[in-house]
Amino acid sequence: MPTSKNDLRDSFGRIAKKLRISVTDRCNMRCIYCMPYNNTNWLNQQNLLSFDQISHLVKIFASLGIENIKITGGEPLVRNNLTLLIKSLSSINGIKSISMTTNGLLLKDKVIDLKESGLDGINISLDTFDPIRFKAMSGIDGLDTVMESIKMTIHQDIRVKINTVVIKGWNDDEIPQFVKFSKETGCPVKFIEFMPLDGTGIWSKDLVVSKDEMIEKINNDFGRLNSIANDKADPARLYNFEDGVGTIGFIPSITKPFCQDCDRVRITADGNLYTCLFEKKSYNLRQLLDEGRSDEYISKYLRECVTKKPEGIIKIIKNHSLKPNLNNMYTIGG
Ligand code: 5AD
Ligand code: SF4
Repeated sequence: MPTSKNDLRDSFGRIAKKLRISVTDRCNMRCIYCMPYNNTNWLNQQNLLSFDQISHLVKIFASLGIENIKITGGEPLVRNNLTLLIKSLSSINGIKSISMTTNGLLLKDKVIDLKESGLDGINISLDTFDPIRFKAMSGIDGLDTVMESIKMTIHQDIRVKINTVVIKGWNDDEIPQFVKFSKETGCPVKFIEFMPLDGTGIWSKDLVVSKDEMIEKINNDFGRLNSIANDKADPARLYNFEDGVGTIGFIPSITKPFCQDCDRVRITADGNLYTCLFEKKSYNLRQLLDEGRSDEYISKYLRECVTKKPEGIIKIIKNHSLKPNLNNMYTIGG
């Protein structure tokens, strides 16, 4: 991989290539693995980065080797005029792709505009095909709406994937249905191990369904999964089937953490940089913008912050320190 002295390189030799930008911490769902019950602890709207500020930061990140952007939330589509941001980001030199993770509730009517504004890919979260379970897991009676969004998006010329957080006793019995869904639609499904980033504090090791358990179940029901070579920095290892129909991925954050290949950093909607999902410390970038610091100053600061990127969840696992609610996914954006 070509490197330069301007790279965002940490002390373990990892180089950041992907930036995840949370555009709001607010959400129109209340997923049990993410949002605190009756959350009222929202960011002050006045502290959110403006689209101009986000674009300014992304220009600096791009000059430091960032190539891929993922827009996240909360739910990114609750922020108005997001297409303006995507248009602006897609014109930045060095940015090769922009994708988004959404819960799909507001997607149906926006997908065409999003695509036209330069969005290359959409990940849609879906944890169940059962409407009652959907309500129990997300707090919203929204299965039909999300399914409509998914179908609509699959018919657009845009990369689409499904993200499924698997929780023992909640939805692990639906893994075969998700596989069937991928086989019928051609849309890849990524199964995510439940991480202790739950605002609800319900996480426990017993609720985690491991990648190995999922593979065994799928092999039994559908025949052998074959690993497909993909970007080693992509946390999802991808697999297909003997018949070539359907693609399945796993994000085994708990049982096979991939921290050593991590190439991501993230900023919250109020402009705090997190170099790791599991880091408590963050770095206030909005303040630097408000103070009118030069791009050179901010670049230097970003490089310094990334140098201090911690080893990751792998270290927490080694120390036997996994526990619920280590951080809040809804503010950091996944
Ligand atoms: N564990 C695993 N994945 C999570 N997500 C949110 N919270 C968790 C968690 N505790 C996923 C959502 C969504 C993405 C933004 O992060 O399913 O796809
Ligand atoms: Fe909202 Fe996504 Fe968190 Fe669910 S996982 S509450 S959809 S931010």
